[in-house]
Amino acid sequence: MTTTDKVFTGNFTQQEPISAEAIAAAVEVMQSGRLHRYNVSENNELSETTLLEIEYAKYQGQQYCLACTSGGYAMQTALRAWGIEPGQPILTNAFTLSPVPGAITAAGGTPVLIDTTDQLVLDLNHLEQTIKSTGASVLMLSHMRGHLVDMDKLMVILNEHKVALIEDCAHTMGATFNGVKSGNHGVMACFSTQTYKHINSGEGGFLTTNDDVLMAKAVILSGSYMLYERHEASPAPAVFEQVKYLTPNCSGRMDNLRAAILRPQLINLDANCKRWNTRYEALVAKLVPIDIIDVPTEHQSAVEVHSSAQFAINSFSDDQNQAFLKACKDSGVELKWFGADKPAAYTSRYDSWQYFPTTKLPQTDKVLARLYDCRIPLTFSVDDCATIGEIIAEKALLIGSA
Ligand SMILES: Cc1ncc(COP(=O)(O)O)c(C=O)c1O
Repeated sequence: MTTTDKVFTGNFTQQEPISAEAIAAAVEVMQSGRLHRYNVSENNELSETTLLEIEYAKYQGQQYCLACTSGGYAMQTALRAWGIEPGQPILTNAFTLSPVPGAITAAGGTPVLIDTTDQLVLDLNHLEQTIKSTGASVLMLSHMRGHLVDMDKLMVILNEHKVALIEDCAHTMGATFNGVKSGNHGVMACFSTQTYKHINSGEGGFLTTNDDVLMAKAVILSGSYMLYERHEASPAPAVFEQVKYLTPNCSGRMDNLRAAILRPQLINLDANCKRWNTRYEALVAKLVPIDIIDVPTEHQSAVEVHSSAQFAINSFSDDQNQAFLKACKDSGVELKWFGADKPAAYTSRYDSWQYFPTTKLPQTDKVLARLYDCRIPLTFSVDDCATIGEIIAEKALLIGSA
């Protein structure tokens, strides 16, 4: 075959700048000096953080929202609010990122890992078997890389076995299943606003729910002191009376500076989700025709947000795998490989989380062994994404035929 020797020069970790409007809002907060969410002026001012919570709750279609320091913190808080026992088994995905088992452990639970399918979603057969064998009653479901499992089938299993669902929507903010926003299937949902997520405040997170008592507990847990009445997207004061002396302060509040830069971004979230998907389509259009490349397909009821692309090349030997990663890198295409036995940067395989007992998961091992991942920052144009796809396809074919 002929090679094009195309080299891509874009930066895979370069996000779009914060808009002038968001910068102005942040400057205003700084000029006011009132950065702490409860530091409001006399006449019943609603802080930027409170306003953001109202707006995110509305966007999400949930009654309540708590803004906090990170997605990982939101997950810990959700588990603490639910009230897990020390060492309690908490079901979660084997294919996820380290903050997920980390949050479970921080909240005192013990992660119990569930296999992934080759479509990169939770294996529902393995889930059901594991519920039966462990008696676990909570699932922290990570919609890893935005791939949505069949939520209808999942809910049938969870309801039958009385398993509570908490959703990790770090990668599905803005996605839907059957027209229902991701995060609205379980008792609580957790979101991240860390730089590489769908809205960017550097660090940050949300916890959403429709449950009065869970949100009252979450607000107190986040470090509201006794200022919970300054929350608006939260239950009535009477609900706090039930929990306020029984719930510890584990500080993790969002501040007004972050909230100020998130509020304008929320307005553009849905439009940006479409921009991600257009870029993703341009990229995978180059991969799908290549026989040796498998691109996961989206469930027909799902509308995912593809802020990254995943694909597998299962026919590659170890040598071909290494040669492929190097060839892409040499052409400017930075891929992450989920199968590496040593954790690298953001990517770690489940067997490197050695602070809780894990058994080998041969199915997950097989899926991860040749699974690649490519970020799609919105600073890339649609043409850039097509070029990236071409380079990946070309290197795959070249190395696959060697
Ligand atoms: C799948 C997944 N869940 C949760 C998180 C936690 O988010 P944060 O970094 O805001 O704690 C991340 C962050 O990368 C993630 O990738």
